[in-house]
Amino acid sequence: MKVLFIGDIIGEPGRKMVRASMRSLMDAHAPDLVIANGENAAGGFGITADIAEELFALGIHTLTSGNHVWDKKEIEPYLTKQDRLIRPANYPDGNPGYGSVVISTAAGKAAVLNLEGRVFMSNLEDPFRAADREIEKLKLETPVVIIDFHAEATSEKIALAWHVDGRASALIGTHTHVQTADERVLTNGTAFITDAGMTGPTDSVIGVKKEQAIARFLYQTPHRFEIPKGPVHLSAVVLDIDGKTGKANSIQRVHMKS
Ligand SMILES: [Fe+2]
Ligand SMILES: [Fe+2]
Repeated sequence: MKVLFIGDIIGEPGRKMVRASMRSLMDAHAPDLVIANGENAAGGFGITADIAEELFALGIHTLTSGNHVWDKKEIEPYLTKQDRLIRPANYPDGNPGYGSVVISTAAGKAAVLNLEGRVFMSNLEDPFRAADREIEKLKLETPVVIIDFHAEATSEKIALAWHVDGRASALIGTHTHVQTADERVLTNGTAFITDAGMTGPTDSVIGVKKEQAIARFLYQTPHRFEIPKGPVHLSAVVLDIDGKTGKANSIQRVHMKS
């Protein structure tokens, strides 16, 4: 099973980049499953139902998310209605939406699980124990389990990857918006990268206008965050997974420029 995982899509520039790149990505990698993180797809903050539908229409099968998924209040009913847009599974009970989804592909079923880290982030349920619980549940349906671990700290991402090594097919880090160069298949068959990177404006501070981000650091006061115009890049990874055993054969980084 070939899986294309696209890093955080940032606003309209990110969506345009996905639209422009999809044909060549499909030709080059022929993925059975396309996953993208969509937490910043609406103007950099959150996602709306219309934007999620727009991304699904481009050929993305599943959208994962993270801390920003709650930014647009109107997404809440959609999170319960459309199970292909998932949010981290380790938010407290009572929140709308689902933390995982099982997708039927031409190469068999695949489960996609979303988790969020706790280091320098919100005080959520322990993602390690949530991973144990969710993997066990999803394995009843398919050996292929792909995790988007949306987290700030590299140590937390690496630790969770080793914790699930041999039980998950892949653990892909998101949230920090900068693609790391540490992709590998771990000892027991879990593909891992600390961060898939983002799909958004290149001359920015992780997707935000550089002047606004600099002002925030200079003055330590709130500043408007907007998405700049200019060159855009797409960051992704391609996974090759054995659909029978659920083990990963390879993970490859993808980086495209507008
Ligand atoms: Fe993000
Ligand atoms: Fe995030």
